[in-house]
Amino acid sequence: MKPINIGLIGWGTVGSGVVKILLEDQALIQKKLERRLILKRIADLDLESPRPIQVDSSILTTNAEDIIKDPEIEIIIELMGGLEPARTFILKAIAAGKHVVTANKALLATHGQEIFKAAKEQGVEILFEASVGGCIPVIRTLKEDLPANHINHFFGILNGTANFILTKMSAEGVDFDQALAEAQAKGFAEADPTFDVDGIDTAHKLAILVSLAYGHELELDKIYVEGISQLALLDIQFAAEFGYVVKLLAISSSNESQIEARVHPALLPRDHVLAGVNGSFNAIFFNGHNVGDILLYGQGSGMMPTASAVASDIIDLARSISKGALRRVPSLAWREIGQDGMELKPMEETITTYYFRFSVLDRPSVLSKISGILGEHKISISAVIQKGREVKGAVPIVMMTHEAKEANVQKALSEINQLDMVRDKTVLIRVEDRF
Ligand code: HSE
Repeated sequence: MKPINIGLIGWGTVGSGVVKILLEDQALIQKKLERRLILKRIADLDLESPRPIQVDSSILTTNAEDIIKDPEIEIIIELMGGLEPARTFILKAIAAGKHVVTANKALLATHGQEIFKAAKEQGVEILFEASVGGCIPVIRTLKEDLPANHINHFFGILNGTANFILTKMSAEGVDFDQALAEAQAKGFAEADPTFDVDGIDTAHKLAILVSLAYGHELELDKIYVEGISQLALLDIQFAAEFGYVVKLLAISSSNESQIEARVHPALLPRDHVLAGVNGSFNAIFFNGHNVGDILLYGQGSGMMPTASAVASDIIDLARSISKGALRRVPSLAWREIGQDGMELKPMEETITTYYFRFSVLDRPSVLSKISGILGEHKISISAVIQKGREVKGAVPIVMMTHEAKEANVQKALSEINQLDMVRDKTVLIRVEDRF
């Protein structure tokens, strides 16, 4: 049978991993496929930087159009990242009748509607297993393994860089900047690491998962996002005294009419299964009405783990092409997206428990004043500690609450922050101990 030709656009870290798999694991792959895979062309603007594996220079080009216009290429792998020109290249590839494999979560979260619609109209596939959770089969699990489930809730650690930073801060007591520099040196941070630490990368992934899980439209701009760059080592240490670890979480749940979708640092009980997910590892927990709980865990980033996910899409596609079974599964798992009749719940309506750290002057009646304001806003305290240590002339009072509504919490904290005895803006970290 005639081979399937592949073109790669973006020869960076993950691209190099894909080249390595296609060249070095060919024998293994061919035992699973009827048609041979041939990496016919690679496009990248930088063809000079050293790569971990050499290729014949005749297949290299700096012009992506050479791949898009090549009639012999059936599958295009987009690994350049970013919104443009990746969007244009993918749309042109689809218009030219090519199938596309991408890891570009930012692009799918932002322009997914347009891209998935174009692929459907053209009858081509767009696969994106590597866009969420690196090597972890998150997308395929939702598309192929859980279609007979209402997803009640899911939450996870979806950014390896942020998780690496938080793990280092908590285990070694190092500050945020030092931990970030190390994450970047290890190569799993995004080109712009603010996407990792500000929670944006996690929000991109959450937007994709919300669509897959509930058939909801991609609505990146309605997801609440808060990152970890403002997180103080002190709070990680206080949280530990209460028996919690701090993780950057993507959290989602649904009822009949609303979907909760938020990204923020959260306190997890130390014995929670996700609390032990450390370093650059990712993990995601799904709860479906038939299946119950499912936990997926693995390397969320890095050259070979992510390349493994890209290769899984290429092999999947090659099988579909060989068997004439293209678009067997809709791109986002549902026949129609956006027919769910649900809305994303506004953040102010969220109900959860909270950790607060107040920086106050050490004077009588401070605590009663603060607890009075909390009480007026229906916020009930479950635990308090006051530490003697001075931080910038004030002492920290750390408090845990019972369940409270976000809108009430924001109102109460804004009143408390205006008190004379309060020296610094109150730190708020949400607690995730429902599931
Ligand atoms: N920068 C991402 C992370 C890479 O740190 O998880 C995978 O999306």
